[in-house]
Amino acid sequence: MTRILGIETSCDETSAAVLEGDGDDVAQKSLVILSQDIHRVFGGVVPEIASRAHLTSIVPVVERALEEAETSLDDLDAVAVTNTPGLVGALLVGVSYGKALAFSHDIPLLGIHHMEGHLFAAALEHRDAVPPFTALLVSGGHTLLLDVEAWGKYRLLGATRDDAAGEAFDKVAKLLGLPYPGGRYVEQLARDGDPKRFHFSRPMLRKNALPADEDYYAFSFSGLKTAVLNAVRASKNIDADKADIARAFQDSLIDTLVEKTSRAANAFSRQRVVLGGGVACNGTLAAAMRARLARDGVTVFTPTPRLATDNAAMIARAGFFRFEQGERAGLDLNAYASRPIPGLVAA
Ligand code: KG4
Ligand code: ZN
Repeated sequence: MTRILGIETSCDETSAAVLEGDGDDVAQKSLVILSQDIHRVFGGVVPEIASRAHLTSIVPVVERALEEAETSLDDLDAVAVTNTPGLVGALLVGVSYGKALAFSHDIPLLGIHHMEGHLFAAALEHRDAVPPFTALLVSGGHTLLLDVEAWGKYRLLGATRDDAAGEAFDKVAKLLGLPYPGGRYVEQLARDGDPKRFHFSRPMLRKNALPADEDYYAFSFSGLKTAVLNAVRASKNIDADKADIARAFQDSLIDTLVEKTSRAANAFSRQRVVLGGGVACNGTLAAAMRARLARDGVTVFTPTPRLATDNAAMIARAGFFRFEQGERAGLDLNAYASRPIPGLVAA
């Protein structure tokens, strides 16, 4: 049996987790997530503050994860730490601490790609959320549509040309006067919205689109954000209109995500779709995805909110796969703002 400590510090949560098991049979022994609430005051993540907050919390967060798992550093088989993509200063805190633990206790070290972590999140709770599947990763920084033939074999089908899905939610939340990060507030507000009062066009969704078209799987959300801005400006009574605007925005964005994911699942004849990233917390998205794909006999897996947003359990889980592949990082492991997911195959 293998026991891995995961560490995640790529953005604004300091997180550590211990996982135990073999192959795809892995149990989560502990998961500690410390969210940095301070960024709310600024309406977005302030990198310098994030790095400092990681520095003050990384030691107690890791100690707590080890305690809750009733294990110690000497019983670990590996330390898996997120080293890309993300805020470099924030990533460096986790990477440096991971390296120090690995060096001082002679434990193998693994550098994990944050988005590969999101891919593994659903598998922590659902035994069947394993390849082959179509994956839609929707977070604050990324919107990726992937075909996953096997763990480590990822075909990138589509990405966003401008704003990420979560970023669009956050910007629209700001336009509607909601707190940051605003995704869940927009979803709440949209529940009371009238779907017929506003209509925003669906970005990059043409009825006659063909798989060979450049934008067949691609996303773009900045035009939708501008449409929301215009609707807000034109409104004579924003308090009365904002739920309807939120509803029209969310309907348009969800329609696009569902349609493109369905195209990918059909094109590769996949029976499973896996969602990941913070926007996967959106219950309306999950329900729409299920309703649409059930017709084709496709099962949709979503992680629970705690595992959909940034956490170290998903990093440790991806670490299991990389560890079993025989991968090891050296003490020269570095942090990178952006890198492609390892194992990408040509589209
Ligand atoms: O994966 P994540 O925790 O961090 C990144 O790696 O970016 O995703 C955070 C994003 C934010 O943009 C947040 O607004 C969004 O996930 N989010 C949601 C919901 N809950 C979180 N978006 C839409 N609906 C939600 N219920
Ligand atoms: Zn993330």
